[in-house]
Amino acid sequence: MKILYATSEAVPFCKTGGLADVAGSLPSALAAEGAEVAVVLPLYRRVRERFGSQLTFLCYDYVNLGWRHVYCGLFSLEKDGVTWYFLDNEQYFDRPDLYGYMDDGERFGFFSRAVVRMLDHLKFWPDVINCNDWQTALVPIYLKDDGVREERFRSIRTTLTVHNIEYQGRYNPYVLGDLFGLDAGWVEDGTLLMDGDLNLLKGAILCADAVNAVSPTYANELKMAYFAHRMESVMRQCEYKLYGVLNGIDMDRYDPKKDPSIAVSFSAEDMAGKDVCKAHLQRLMGLREEPHVPIVAIVSRLVSHKGLDLICEVLHDMMKLPMQLVVLGKGDKKYEEFFHWAAQQYPGRMAVRLDYNEELSMAIYAGADLFLMPSKSEPCGLSQMIAMRYGTVPIVRETGGLKDTVHPYEAWRDAGNGFTFANYASNDMLHVIREAVFLYKDFPDAFSRLRKRAMACDFSWARSAGEYLRIYASVTGQVWPVPEAAPVEETPAAEAVPEETSSEASSPAEEAPAPAETVEEVRPFEEPAPAPETVQETVPAEETVKKAPARRTAKKAVPAEEAAPAKTSAPAAEPKKRGRKPGSKNTAKKAAGETKKKGTAAKEK
Ligand code: GLC
Repeated sequence: MKILYATSEAVPFCKTGGLADVAGSLPSALAAEGAEVAVVLPLYRRVRERFGSQLTFLCYDYVNLGWRHVYCGLFSLEKDGVTWYFLDNEQYFDRPDLYGYMDDGERFGFFSRAVVRMLDHLKFWPDVINCNDWQTALVPIYLKDDGVREERFRSIRTTLTVHNIEYQGRYNPYVLGDLFGLDAGWVEDGTLLMDGDLNLLKGAILCADAVNAVSPTYANELKMAYFAHRMESVMRQCEYKLYGVLNGIDMDRYDPKKDPSIAVSFSAEDMAGKDVCKAHLQRLMGLREEPHVPIVAIVSRLVSHKGLDLICEVLHDMMKLPMQLVVLGKGDKKYEEFFHWAAQQYPGRMAVRLDYNEELSMAIYAGADLFLMPSKSEPCGLSQMIAMRYGTVPIVRETGGLKDTVHPYEAWRDAGNGFTFANYASNDMLHVIREAVFLYKDFPDAFSRLRKRAMACDFSWARSAGEYLRIYASVTGQVWPVPEAAPVEETPAAEAVPEETSSEASSPAEEAPAPAETVEEVRPFEEPAPAPETVQETVPAEETVKKAPARRTAKKAVPAEEAAPAKTSAPAAEPKKRGRKPGSKNTAKKAAGETKKKGTAAKEK
């Protein structure tokens, strides 16, 4: 199975949020399960600066988008069994930040178009392209657009992962042709139209072969107006192809036993190090060094859907409890100002850092006792899983992935791995914070058993990767997991295949599964592949078979000259000077009038 994962951010290259963590770990987990995986990312300035020397320039091509004919360089890097591709266009991506520019629509329209355009130059022709959020939402649309003209694009299946439905990529429909190079029909038939806006995410939800939310609960919530940011009816319409697969975390990276970034290592069997980490955190943040007072921590973007209003409402009541409070994060001004002010009211008991700081966040996960996440909505949430891994017991509201990962403490049968509350109400939150603080203070043994249960949870990617692969299998009609090769029988064929075996039961795959490497060439099963537990409805068998992809020999990266589109004004006149290194500031001189906007990557090799 060949998967191309298209994303606008990924750890360790570039990160603004949880999408980067997922894109940084899921691809290698898929590869570990036996899939062939490549990831494609924009070549941002920060990637060029930090990883430029490790990148290999492969080729360049031009992307036609509306009236633009734009340069696109292709670089690659191999890592953990995954090929990472970077699409280069300095005009769009050589900027200090990833997002937040007035031309973001044009930038990611270019990126999505370029993903499809550059398929010819990748090491394989994908069976599935997994897009993520609005930034890559146009990929399924462009594939359909190209598929009208060229058969080969029709073989590619698409899946869309929704990490947060709040961000949809909304524009004035007026820019459809100019910015995105699409025909008015896409808006007129409603595919890309929502509340009078051009809505990229809506188009992808409708056009992708499967839509995946990042937790089972979030997949359900997306059908409700409260959570769906006006997309509930679209989600309900697409319920038949909606899945919910819980994200994982990198269990190796986040391991208190071997994490070099924390003060002292520790494990569920030997928690002595955790006390040292706590004292270290108290010193670091200017809190009183009180070993028996629980530290409640918040590490979060300071934005409304994280449930911070609940904290603002009852902060003073919280601070009446025998606890300390640590807050790390930045975001909306009103929360920043509130926390800054509040910390001054409780010197030595409350500490706030208005910052995004990986190192400090690790000191907090390792040193705190309780981790507060009262989110109004939380598609998955990774922090609660990381906190649990470090023995910091979560207090969460029951929404999205928080509900799927944190199970409430039940004293009577000593069960659960955290504390939860259901209603978005500050007193309900206060009630469970009180319960948690007093369990810590008055019943240390019960608290330490609870902590151990939290630390024992398995949030590894292997489980989720299996579910992703089953989704990919169901949309492509391929068999997954690939059956083990059957031992070659010495017995005569007549004995091996009973006479009653009808022709329908003797599809090649069932008769004698081919060895793993060749099985992809075998015609898919008549039955759709087993669906994940969270599947709402499976794709009908006939459809699955109909959609079976046409196989195509993996195409090698072709020299630029071969691949250059007809419109390129002077391809032959631009010979070897294509070997470009990232990190260069030089602007390649192109034939005048060739393009109005283009990447200015490149120094000659
Ligand atoms: C978004 C969501 C978060 C999720 C992450 C990764 O950032 O807000 O809940 O964990 O994506 O999918």
